[in-house]
Amino acid sequence: MTAKIVVVGSFNADLVSYMERMPRPGETVHGKRFATGAGGKGSNQAVAAARLGADISFIGRLGGDVFANLAYEIWDAEGVNHDFVSRDEEVATGVAPILVDSSGENMIVVVLGANLRLRQRDIDAARERIAEADMLVIQREINLAIVPYALRTAKELGVRTILNPAPADGASPESIQLADILTPNEIELETLSGGAFDDVASAARALLSRADQTAVVTLGAQGARIVTQEETSLTPTFAVEAVDTTGAGDSFNAALAVGLAEGMALGDAVRFANAAAALCVTKPGAADSAPCRADVDALYFGAQ
Ligand code: RIB
Repeated sequence: MTAKIVVVGSFNADLVSYMERMPRPGETVHGKRFATGAGGKGSNQAVAAARLGADISFIGRLGGDVFANLAYEIWDAEGVNHDFVSRDEEVATGVAPILVDSSGENMIVVVLGANLRLRQRDIDAARERIAEADMLVIQREINLAIVPYALRTAKELGVRTILNPAPADGASPESIQLADILTPNEIELETLSGGAFDDVASAARALLSRADQTAVVTLGAQGARIVTQEETSLTPTFAVEAVDTTGAGDSFNAALAVGLAEGMALGDAVRFANAAAALCVTKPGAADSAPCRADVDALYFGAQ
């Protein structure tokens, strides 16, 4: 069965500098390599899900500059439908300067530009497409008023939702309550919890307000922790050599959505998502490093 997924989110042009180690405040360090690539959590998740075989529609907003061309190039190459992407000639396309050190860790600044101009009518225009979808996936690199609006629209239409609360600062309680599945990483969980926590499961459980809500907390090299109001379990990930962790969370969210839309049980979908994220970190780039279905299946089934 082909999973039908709508992704509401950002596109950013990623401006990536690779270096031995990150500079400290006030320090200049030499970079080893520079690359420009397609990024933005929303677009990365759309591309990653398309590579896993899903039928993807993307809802987003681009600016009037040449960076928008990077978006159309990757969407057309990967079969991501962009009928519901509009362009705003007056503003810049989102950009993300990214630093990646020799261990593969990154630091990212997002300057969201046109992503902040996403409007309710962009969601309304895609209402029929959302109604046909198995899942709606959304993050927080857009006009934040749209996040609860899109989640509410999906709920009205009976479509299951994943909220990847990234970046997490200022997340509205309404969005957190509306989403069916929340996928913070540990830093985002800390932000959502209002400070440091002792225990991932308790902190994640405190976010859940409905019995049918689930949090899946991504824990990097440890895997991911599933938390419901009743239970919690750790799904370990696959050991790989990390080159660049950028986009790992996006491959995770995409694969989680695809797995669930295809009817996998939650634990299996999380293992499938771990496999996609593990493969993603073995290559440089964000959308560029999202793995194809055959490779994810080989890791997922090979390790069973
Ligand atoms: O998740 C990685 C992404 O975060 C990058 O592609 C960058 O654009 C930021 O949105």
